[in-house]
Amino acid sequence: MKEELRKLEQEAIGELKSVRDEKDLERFRIVYLGKKGLLTAFMRRLGKLPPDQRPEMGRAANVVKARLTSEYEKAKQRVASHRERLEAVLDVTLPGRRPPRGHLHPITMTLQEVCGIFTRMGFSIVKGPNIELDYYNFEALNIPRDHPARDMQDTFYVSENVVLRTHTSPIQVRVMESQDPPVSVIAPGKVYRRDSDVSHTPMFHQVEGLLVDRGVTFGDLKGTLTHFVHQMFGADTALRFRPSFFPFTEPSAEVDIECVICRGAGCRTCGQTGWLEILGSGVVDPAVYGFVGYDPEIYSGFAFGMGIERIAMLKYGIDDIQLFFRNDLRFLRQF
Ligand code: FA5
Ligand code: MG
Repeated sequence: MKEELRKLEQEAIGELKSVRDEKDLERFRIVYLGKKGLLTAFMRRLGKLPPDQRPEMGRAANVVKARLTSEYEKAKQRVASHRERLEAVLDVTLPGRRPPRGHLHPITMTLQEVCGIFTRMGFSIVKGPNIELDYYNFEALNIPRDHPARDMQDTFYVSENVVLRTHTSPIQVRVMESQDPPVSVIAPGKVYRRDSDVSHTPMFHQVEGLLVDRGVTFGDLKGTLTHFVHQMFGADTALRFRPSFFPFTEPSAEVDIECVICRGAGCRTCGQTGWLEILGSGVVDPAVYGFVGYDPEIYSGFAFGMGIERIAMLKYGIDDIQLFFRNDLRFLRQF
């Protein structure tokens, strides 16, 4: 029984050490010191001992009881003073604080909005590789070997025939290679150029569009892009189609929208012109069909490619493209 008492005492002291609050304290009191507790039960059993052993065991049990009681009181004080200190520094009646919640990056938000407008018109989304063959990025888009766009100063070359894609247009070729018309796709993704200033970064995002079918005209291109601009920037935003050149479209046009900063009056952002370029587009050049095996006598189509950072800058009135990639929370939290 001596051994039993020693174990009981050890366990009780051990448990007192892990007491944190009033609830723990009360549980301890009931289990060890209460009327139905372990120590009381032990003392009841003393009566069954031979008379000559009773006094010694009785004394030992009382010593343990006294010790546990005084340790219990000490723990009680410790809990009470801990609570006081807590209450001095914190008001437990205050409402809780929500954990901070993140949100999507403004470029991701703009990408999703652009893709949403086109998928609602019936376009489906396709992807292509970031590391691309020279053939798809240039050759099959009617960009010959000596074209200035292929210059080492503009393009990141991985090897002689492999580049980081400089636009999303190679996806046009991959799609036409793998399916017959009618085709209506958009292709969002990252593109890379050796370029860096307030409106250019070495990596940026484009969304490509391609529609090929029987009887598609430049009028369809105008209608589609006009609808897009009105959805993206508001139905009262003016736009214009300005003649341009791309080796893979003929005729080609760049689309300008009325400057969102000055509303067409002329300012620093639009170079006093009142207009801002948002995308390149055109009727697919028959030369491209030659590379993918489409019959230009039967099919025609249009394509376009827009810079997403540019669109986000206009939409949110941001004058430095680099801000998107600095990961400064003070900037990002504003969206
Ligand atoms: C093209 O990339 C053509 N592939 C677009 C096209 C597609 C034309 C289909 C016809 C048919 P461009 O090089 O102009 O075109 O780039 C398109 C847009 O990307 C530009 O209007 C601009 O908004 C954006 N852009 C170009 N370079 C950068 C850069 N370094 N940083 C951020 N945006 C850029
Ligand atoms: Mg351009």
